[in-house]
Amino acid sequence: MTPPTGLPTGVSRTAVLIAQAREAETARPDRLFSDPLAGPLIEAAGRIPAVSEAGRRAAQHFVLRTRYFDDRLLEAARAGVRQVVLLAAGLDTRAFRLDWPAGTRLFEVDLPELISFKEKVLADRGAQPACTRTAVAADLREDWPAALRAAGFDTAVPTAWLVEGVLMYLTPEDGARVLEGVELLSAPGSRLAVEHVNRAYIDLPQMAPAMGKLAATRAAWLSSVEDPQAWLAPYGWHAEIAHQADLAREYGRPVPAMADPAIVGSARIWLIHAVRRPVHS
Ligand SMILES: C[S@@+](CC[C@H](N)C(=O)[O-])C[C@H]1O[C@@H](n2cnc3c(N)ncnc32)[C@H](O)[C@@H]1O
Repeated sequence: MTPPTGLPTGVSRTAVLIAQAREAETARPDRLFSDPLAGPLIEAAGRIPAVSEAGRRAAQHFVLRTRYFDDRLLEAARAGVRQVVLLAAGLDTRAFRLDWPAGTRLFEVDLPELISFKEKVLADRGAQPACTRTAVAADLREDWPAALRAAGFDTAVPTAWLVEGVLMYLTPEDGARVLEGVELLSAPGSRLAVEHVNRAYIDLPQMAPAMGKLAATRAAWLSSVEDPQAWLAPYGWHAEIAHQADLAREYGRPVPAMADPAIVGSARIWLIHAVRRPVHS
């Protein structure tokens, strides 16, 4: 295999860290999901050593969030949604590892460098998606809706959106523009799954080493949200928040330390699922 060009750097390198959590989960006999392509993608990108105990513990959250969003996307598919968009998909391999109904079209949007790296590794392995998959190289701070439409996105049918592990890297203004784009492209019946954090989480003393490392690698966290329901309502979404303690119970896992109120107080990583609010006449 020829070495891939355009190894992910800067903020795109954070995708490797998340893939490492999925790879470790895949090796467990009691795994909550299986991601066999995580290992090859990580090997090609180069592994990232954990910078702190908090960094190591974050993996527990990444695993719960992966399974939570898997379940939300498959729920949307069961409800008849056949168009899926992963914004800032990173090294996500849901197109390959989930059991999509026939006719599902899935779009992955990420920065050009990440997309070209990922496509090369997947092509070298002959990886076959379980749906019709389209990778879209676009910057979420620019006109990504135009890029998505040009790639074949259909504005007339409902979409299941996933915005996982990215909004904290964008300024509040850029994050708002992402939500405006999602709103613009969402036909009735669309759903939105999204992750964000509150300010208290960014300010946790345990997070300081990770925040320092992220800032040093051009991946500083630039925004937070205090009230996800109030944040999403103006864009037409009715949001529900899942708590990691409930997910841990549901999936038979310990509560991740970085999401345990007894340890982190009011600091929160928000896992949010939203449906379109009915239009009132
Ligand atoms: C922490 S990773 C999360 C990846 C994936 N969603 C997951 O959970 O495995 C952050 C991702 O956001 C992407 N990203 C960051 N800023 C972006 C931007 N302005 N436009 C598009 N993608 C961006 C990075 O390239 C990276 O793949």
